[in-house]
This record gives sequence, C-alpha cells and structure tokens, in this order.
Amino acid sequence: MGAALMGNEQGVRTKSGGRDMRPKTAFLLVLAGLGALVGGCGGGEEEAPTTPAANPSPAGEETPTVSLPDPRLKGEMSLEEAILERRSRRSFVDSFLTLEEVSQILWAAQGITDSTGLRAAPSAGALYPLDVYVVVGSQGVEGLEEGVYHYLPQSHSLEPTLEGDVRQTLANLSIRQMFIAQAPLSLLITAEYERTTGKYGDRGVRYVHMEAGHVGQNVYLQAEALGLGTVTVGAFQDEEISRALNLPPNYMPLYVMPTGRSE
Ligand SMILES: Cc1cc2nc3c(=O)[nH]c(=O)nc-3n(C[C@H](O)[C@H](O)[C@H](O)COP(=O)(O)O)c2cc1C
Repeated sequence: MGAALMGNEQGVRTKSGGRDMRPKTAFLLVLAGLGALVGGCGGGEEEAPTTPAANPSPAGEETPTVSLPDPRLKGEMSLEEAILERRSRRSFVDSFLTLEEVSQILWAAQGITDSTGLRAAPSAGALYPLDVYVVVGSQGVEGLEEGVYHYLPQSHSLEPTLEGDVRQTLANLSIRQMFIAQAPLSLLITAEYERTTGKYGDRGVRYVHMEAGHVGQNVYLQAEALGLGTVTVGAFQDEEISRALNLPPNYMPLYVMPTGRSE
C-alpha cells in the first residue's frame, strides 16, 4: 500500500532545492518503510482487490438453497452492553432457534456488508479463506431440517451438505464436550489456507487464524445481543470432524461454536 502511494507522490521542491517534508509526505514515507519491512517478512498486506473473493459452493450450483431473512441492522442491546455481558456459555435450554436468529448470527460471522462484497469480519487482502457451516439438530431451528448446511455469503443463504443430526458425533469428536450435543445448533468455521497463503506465503497461515478470531468474536457479540449464548471450542479431532461432516479437501476445521438459548 505504502509503495503504491509513494509512486503517486511527487513531493514539493523547496527554495533550497530539497524536498519539503510536509506532514503528509513524511507520513507516507513512514508507511512505505513499514510496507517494505512487512514485505520482507513475506506477508506484505496490499490494498483490497476491487472484487473480493466469493466462497466456492462445495455442494454444487444445482443444490436448492434455503434463503435467509434479511438481517436487521438495529438491536436491543448496545455494543458496549454486549461486550460487558459476553461470556462463554455452555448450558443450553431445550428450545429451537428461529431462522431470523440464525440469519443474524451468520451475517455477523461472514455476511456481506458492502456493495463491493466486503464482509462483517476483516480479511487479509479480502481473500476470505473461511467458510461457515451450520450443524442443525433435530428441531434445532424453526423451518430447517436437521443436517449440515454451508453458508453462502453472496446470496445470504444456506446450501444443505449433509442430512441427519450429527451433533452427538460432533460432541464425541470434540473430546466429548457434551454441551455440543445439547445446543440446537453449532457453527463450524473452516479455513482453506491456500486462498491466503497463495498471496502471502507462510505468513498467510497466521492471517487465517487471526481472521477466525475476528469471526468468533462477532458471533459471540451478536449471540449476546440476541439473548443467546455461545462458546468457541477449539479442542477437537480435525481429520475425524472433516470426515464426519464430509468437508471438501483442504478445509480445516478451526472453531466449533455451539449456540442456543443459554440457561
Ligand atoms: C482458541 C480458544 C479455544 C477454546 N476452546 C474451548 C474448548 O474447547 N472448550 C470450551 O469449553 N471452551 C473453549 N474456549 C473458551 C474459553 O474457555 C473461555 O473463553 C475462557 O474460559 C474465558 O471465559 P469467557 O469466554 O467467558 O470470558 C476456547 C477459547 C479460545 C479463545
């Protein structure tokens, strides 16, 4: 970014013939220096591409999708209250979630929030290496069959990828953290590292993990603001979960987030 800006910066000649280091120019020089430093680490951030990446549809274009209601942009709880109240919640009452609530949570996780395709959570180079799956239990969500669904940000919809209630399997493969089986649904956040390492090399791995943190926090705060509870679960068996949920090759599960009405 710094280098690109510098390319346009002509500088201003002073009477003495030297460059006039006005504050803006000095600031750009600092940026250029930082850019060179970060670039030297093999992970230089550049300005966002004009067309941010879209998530591929593993289920295929012909699979019928479930449209989600539009997210609302005003809530009853302030951001400050949501931050104050946020806790990891692991105890859920036996009650379904509405499709509106699911829509809101997914929008906070990876929803498109800008006409150019940028999303609710930041992403290095706007490459969006993360995908969000929803594991829905029997009668877990009003109007949704039990099963696994893949969130499509571009159309704000869900494509079904697996039938049946796999919550118990997910809990077993998450070192038997049984609250996962009790939550009406769990989000699964996955990463395809190549989308980011293709541009940033090895440093892209850390970018992807940082992004999962951003998504997790958005989900925490949105859940809290809706009067729901969630928890980021990182302890699980990667390969077994990938197999059980029939994830596409190279999709690495990073976070399981059981979500429901907390007790
Ligand atoms: C990377 C990461 C992994 C975590 N994994 C688990 C987990 O496997 N199981 C669990 O119950 N909580 C897990 N947690 C939640 C923490 O236990 C929780 O954030 C911590 O106890 C602080 O509580 P608070 O979130 O309510 O502030 C994880 C949190 C993070 C950030």
